Amino acid sequence: MTELVRLTGVSKRYETTGPPALDEVSVEVGTGAAVAVMGPSGSGKSTLLNLVGGLDRPTSGTVEVAGEDLGRLSEKRLAVFRRTHVGIVFQFFHLLDDLTVRDNVLLPAQLAGVPPRTARARATELMDALGLGRRPTRTRHGCPVGSGSGWPSHGRW
Ligand SMILES: Nc1ncnc2c1ncn2[C@@H]1O[C@H](COP(=O)(O)OP(=O)(O)O)[C@@H](O)[C@H]1O
Ligand SMILES: [Mg+2]
Repeated sequence: MTELVRLTGVSKRYETTGPPALDEVSVEVGTGAAVAVMGPSGSGKSTLLNLVGGLDRPTSGTVEVAGEDLGRLSEKRLAVFRRTHVGIVFQFFHLLDDLTVRDNVLLPAQLAGVPPRTARARATELMDALGLGRRPTRTRHGCPVGSGSGWPSHGRW
């Protein structure tokens, strides 16, 4: 199995004093593996996921994902990396309230330059899979609260 994620000696400090949020973490995750990160509140789960998802950078150590050393990417290339490789369902959704369900789903595909017809077909597929097929023209306020966290995450086009 090839590695999709490899962290080597990764530390993250938010403050200069006190213990680091992550202390010399090394871990590998193979392609196709399903992994749950578990631990008490404050143990560094979100910090770890933020680093793997290219949302933050480590204080030291290397984070490699899909063959890219994320620490070496510029902000712009990191944004492209996130768009093409990372899907995140945030606890607080981070959806655009004024867009319809369909437009929220379509947005990352539009940014990635996916042809509109392909993007629309894929959006329909994803929304049907999640039981949102009958809500395409409503804004997310028209959906049950739980639906917000079940929307297709970005980057899976
Ligand atoms: N943006 C931040 N600024 C300062 N400290 C932070 C920040 N984010 C997280 N921390 C601290 O880092 C540690 C790990 O937090 P976090 O990764 O959010 O843990 P978990 O997700 O496991 O609850 C905690 O001590 C938390 O207070
Ligand atoms: Mg957390």
